[in-house]
Amino acid sequence: VRVAVVFGGRSAEHAISCVSAGSVMAALDPERYEVVPVGIAKDGRWVLADPGQQLAITDGALPEVAGGTAVSLVGDPEGRGLAVLDPGQAVGRALTEVDVVFPVLHGAYGEDGTIQGLLEMTGLPYVGSGVFASAASMDKEFTKKLLAAAGLPQGDHVVLRDADGAISADPDVLDDAARDRLGLPVFVKPARAGSSIGITRVTDWSQFPAAVAEAAAVDEKVIVEAAVPGREIECGVLAARGTGLPEASLPAEIRLRDGVDWYDFAAKYLDDAAEFDIPADLTPEQTAAVQAAARRAYLALDCRGLARVDFFLGTGEDGEDLLVINEVNTMPGFTPISMFARMWAATGVDFAELVDRLVSGALA
Ligand code: DAL
Ligand code: MG
Repeated sequence: VRVAVVFGGRSAEHAISCVSAGSVMAALDPERYEVVPVGIAKDGRWVLADPGQQLAITDGALPEVAGGTAVSLVGDPEGRGLAVLDPGQAVGRALTEVDVVFPVLHGAYGEDGTIQGLLEMTGLPYVGSGVFASAASMDKEFTKKLLAAAGLPQGDHVVLRDADGAISADPDVLDDAARDRLGLPVFVKPARAGSSIGITRVTDWSQFPAAVAEAAAVDEKVIVEAAVPGREIECGVLAARGTGLPEASLPAEIRLRDGVDWYDFAAKYLDDAAEFDIPADLTPEQTAAVQAAARRAYLALDCRGLARVDFFLGTGEDGEDLLVINEVNTMPGFTPISMFARMWAATGVDFAELVDRLVSGALA
């Protein structure tokens, strides 16, 4: 089976996608899968990547898709797959047929339904969620709307819009009543991004305008979320072989080291700022509640193949558990520190089996 692993891309998570793809390609059993590595450069060019390329974070330096033979995705009567383009010729191409595409892309132009639409157009099967689920899960406003409609608990939040309802990056559209209601700290986020890029934890309203500007530099839509006090819990969801029904992994917990305020980009990938409990130290009832909510979130958003659902587990006034969904990632990180593959390993599905399930599920 020939698998095109597509990585890099135009989003701010380009480097993280490269690292994720490095892990995925290493986990695909060479006896069963022939990998065609396809890089998307930051400017959007598609290239056949060098299979030997180093795709890791070394000494804080982030990997990037650089040169390579230009290719294009085609699906037409002459075949479908990747066409090697000869820049000197308007016609004429060499076609590499692929059986399935694994878009290991995070963020915009990859995890948001755009490449999924392109792949639907070509008719090539691909790993993961389709157009709608990808777009809805990428957008924190619509994720929350759909989860709320399914009765799943949300944190309090406000999308910045002006009086006419238009998207606004004006910090003054958040009025005093909303500020009082949300309280401090708030998290100011680009509505459609990942890996904590563009997010600021605001502890004083004087920081708010700069935080909005930073988020708006990533996405014109900005969401302001109340902080949810509680433990940071994640859970992996994977489609079962055969039925495609969602199965949930054992949950994991992220614990930040003393002095680290929140799980930002550096804490995620660069600093040794977090400790991971895989599985999380939860009661059987808590584990079951997290797993049930993760499966329901996957279904509520119409996900396919895989997702990672991120939670906060707090305590209510009477000491009861309060489980709140933070977000859903339709193409979770596969970096060596990322939780998705590690949670499945703890659940008894090792990395080779995990990627095999994903690819064979896409082909089923
Ligand atoms: N957006 C990153 C890759 C994650 O969710 O793991
Ligand atoms: Mg995310």
